[in-house]
Amino acid sequence: MLQAIVHASELLTGAGIRLKDGRKVTDDDLGRIEDGALVYSTRKVRGKEVPDEILWVGPTPDMPRKYSRIKKRDLKGKQAVIPGMVDCHTHLVFAGDRSEEFAARCGGASYEEIAKKGGGILSTVRATRNASERELETLAIKRLQEAVSYGVRTIEIKTGYGLSAESELKLLKVIRKLKERCPEVRIQSTFLGAHAFPQDQSRESYLDDLINRMIPQAATGKLADVCDVFIDAGYYTREEGRRILAAAKANGLKIKIHADELANTESASLAAEMGALSADHLLRISDSGIRALAASQTVAVLLPGTAFYLKASHAPARRLLDAGAAVALSTDFNPGTCMCLSLPSIMTIAALYLGMTRAEIFAAVTYNGAKALGFEMDSGTLEPGLAARFAVLDFPRFEELYYRFAWAPSRGR
Ligand code: NIG
Ligand code: FE
Repeated sequence: MLQAIVHASELLTGAGIRLKDGRKVTDDDLGRIEDGALVYSTRKVRGKEVPDEILWVGPTPDMPRKYSRIKKRDLKGKQAVIPGMVDCHTHLVFAGDRSEEFAARCGGASYEEIAKKGGGILSTVRATRNASERELETLAIKRLQEAVSYGVRTIEIKTGYGLSAESELKLLKVIRKLKERCPEVRIQSTFLGAHAFPQDQSRESYLDDLINRMIPQAATGKLADVCDVFIDAGYYTREEGRRILAAAKANGLKIKIHADELANTESASLAAEMGALSADHLLRISDSGIRALAASQTVAVLLPGTAFYLKASHAPARRLLDAGAAVALSTDFNPGTCMCLSLPSIMTIAALYLGMTRAEIFAAVTYNGAKALGFEMDSGTLEPGLAARFAVLDFPRFEELYYRFAWAPSRGR
């Protein structure tokens, strides 16, 4: 079936961002069209009619005649249309909550101190292991719907709160279920068994399990698309990360790294060297790490909601951007270091504290977010031939998405 959106107050294609591969973008690259229109095909998935492919984009008065009879949605000059946003780094599937830990942090305890006492990631692991697949699915669906309400149409979801072959498999199955149940959102499944070390197993035996059991299991039947490792002080060493990621690549998975967050471990450089899709966090990235990312295809994923929530110093966004790195922004939604699913709120923090321009922020949640997932060939901008993943906003200008903060702006599609 063909459908069209007409009389959008403005439609931002982002076409110039694609031409520059998401680097050094300016306002001219936003592709802002006044009185915009979009023609797209749909297809039926499990009884739901979902947008499929973009056929035409341009000003409404220029819409080709052959589309004059198709079903149209008239936005009456009141609503803007943008590429569906991409939240490229989330830990969406978990049970339990860490509000006690939050209170302790507000009282002066550090994230690292709490983790050393068996709290932090391990506390969520206990709750998640005890939850059934069904319970986790119910929690996750609600969260996914919240993300969609902000204009997110593509999301990455990590495992990592199972930390055993059996529990990690449970989380991968929950993500597979979400893919089936929510065809209106594109989901990337990331295996993060290397998120921490479990307490009930030795380090060497868990590493052996990761490499010889869990990664092959995650790669089988495409349960996971990508493998991630938390390389940091107190977690995985650079060399352990290298071993795990090499095994992931050998099993056909793409790779990414939680890099240089709590300490500098030169893991951004490792990400570039190993051809990772992205290096994420980067609060403590070195100059050589910045140079390595700028010269590579690896996207620098910044998570300023996490720095905010941990009261840590922000990542050197300007230095990465000015060096020519492709920079994405994401929520890092998780129960410990960023209990927030609102990508627009993250954009507000980026504007105020990372010194990012509006074009850089737009690119960071569209094309560069897609690139961080390896989806940029068919997503991230609104152009004929690409996937029809778009968001209709409840207001006429794109900027209101993050100028007005802590607000739910895009309910419908
Ligand atoms: O991205 N850095 C590692 N993982 C999460 C934190 C997870 C947690 O504390 O539960 C993060 O910040
Ligand atoms: Fe994370």
